[in-house]
Amino acid sequence: MKLVLSLWVLLLMPWTISLAGEDDWQRQSYKQSKRLPDLHHAVDVKLLEAMMPPEDFVLKTGRLLQCKTCHGLEKMDEIPYDKVNKDAPDFLRGGPYPDFEAFCYQCHNKKDNERPNIHVMLEKNGEIKKQNCLYCHEEVNEQREKPRKPADLKLRLPIENVCLGCHLKTPHLNAPEHQEAKPNDEMKKHMKVETEKHGITLPLSNAGKVMCVSCHSPHPDGVIDGKKNPAGRQVLGDVEKGVEYVKHSWDQVYQADKQERLILLEQTTRERVELPYKRIKSEVLLRLPAKNGQLCLSCHEFDR
Ligand code: HEC
Ligand code: HEC
Ligand code: HEC
Ligand code: HEC
Ligand code: HEC
Ligand code: HEC
Repeated sequence: MKLVLSLWVLLLMPWTISLAGEDDWQRQSYKQSKRLPDLHHAVDVKLLEAMMPPEDFVLKTGRLLQCKTCHGLEKMDEIPYDKVNKDAPDFLRGGPYPDFEAFCYQCHNKKDNERPNIHVMLEKNGEIKKQNCLYCHEEVNEQREKPRKPADLKLRLPIENVCLGCHLKTPHLNAPEHQEAKPNDEMKKHMKVETEKHGITLPLSNAGKVMCVSCHSPHPDGVIDGKKNPAGRQVLGDVEKGVEYVKHSWDQVYQADKQERLILLEQTTRERVELPYKRIKSEVLLRLPAKNGQLCLSCHEFDR
């Protein structure tokens, strides 16, 4: 339960970080300042008997947690905080993680801490779970058929930040490429054509950038009627099951194709990178299917 609480605090208080001011310690390493980033996990605590992290989560004498228990970057304690590459796949050991918790559960007990899936927003009888809405919105949007202007969404956080805290900034492959990505006029024109063709929306941030909800719908099918409001138009999947994958015989071919790039990545990050090819069986919370390329082609135009 405590684990869940702390995550909620993390999500609800991101501004505490920005209000902290530009103190020197943010430009120093841990070795210099001996200060952890705000809201950071404890270090120098003893691994509990019941915790069984993977072997490469190296502990220091006395089975205490140190920087390299959780971080895969070399000499983490000597890197000034503003120079830490948080986008490195191994920033969190064994990463990147599709979601935060997968990382935490390598030590903490999943059963005790499992968080409710906020995207399961409908009761069995089809009624909406109002308390879920209020997690992201200031009010329950009752008139859901009518498309809404960004200013009327009444979100509790800036739209590009609503998903963070529960999810990492780089939850999966392809996500890093889209951080700060800004469609140019030509792409925007293409997006307009595609959104009209498919009856969907591809929202961009205030600054005109791609964000999580450009590709993902936060709501499961059924909260907003996709026939009346393009914001509700999306792939039909089971949110409780999530994205499902199947192993595929193309794996070998795929590996061979990617090998050169993976070796390069390994040389820069000094960690072995595994990238199995798994075919997506069912998708969920996407504005268009990605497994047939439609989602990507709604913004990108590739020469054939
Ligand atoms: C129990 C695991 C754990 C240990 C031990 C640990 N960290 Fe972290 N660290 C994390 C997690 C989890 C994050 C947050 C990742 C995120 O928000 O994407 C993080 C984030 C950070 C960040 C980035 C903060 C930010 O968001 O700007 C820095 C810097 C950092 N850790 C430094 C350290 C140092 C230095 C040590 C050793 C003194 C250390 N960590 C030990 C788990 C750990
Ligand atoms: C390498 C193992 C490890 C990982 C990974 C890890 N933790 Fe921990 N965590 C610990 C240990 C050890 C303690 C101290 C346990 C104790 O003394 O009760 C702890 C304590 C905590 C506490 C305080 C618990 C309490 O009873 O006060 C919270 C909250 C917490 N962890 C959250 C997280 C979250 C969130 C993540 C993922 C971002 C995470 N931990 C990842 C090992 C880990
Ligand atoms: C995880 C955060 C989150 C939760 C939980 C959430 N929403 Fe939203 N909602 C958003 C975001 C982000 C947008 C803007 C992007 C979009 O329209 O898809 C939005 C947009 C909307 C819109 C406007 C769609 C449009 O553009 O016309 C309605 C209506 C709405 N939400 C209703 C609800 C209801 C009802 C619930 C509870 C059942 C709910 N939301 C729960 C994040 C959330
Ligand atoms: C360019 C489009 C795009 C953007 C931007 C994007 N995603 Fe995704 N996301 C996808 C696709 C496609 C999938 C389907 C599974 C896959 O291919 O990994 C996915 C899968 C996921 C999954 C499920 C992973 C799994 O394997 O269960 C999560 C969680 C997720 N995204 C969260 C996010 C968050 C949070 C952001 C913003 C920080 C984000 N995504 C940004 C396209 C995107
Ligand atoms: C309150 C925490 C919370 C917030 C906020 C949140 N999510 Fe999630 N998300 C979850 C949980 C829990 C799951 C279930 C799977 C898991 O445990 O990772 C999940 C799963 C997903 C999945 C995978 C589908 C599935 O059912 O496994 C996608 C995609 C996703 N979230 C996208 C988003 C996007 C986009 C936003 C922002 C609009 C967002 N999430 C905000 C907690 C959250
Ligand atoms: C909402 C619009 C949008 C969607 C949907 C989208 N992208 Fe992108 N993507 C962009 C923008 C904008 C950029 C950055 C500018 C550019 O490279 O054209 C980008 C960049 C990329 C890059 C880096 C290109 C480079 O030259 O560095 C890759 C790779 C990529 N996208 C793949 C995908 C894939 C795969 C999908 C489908 C899962 C997808 N994109 C869906 C908008 C989008």
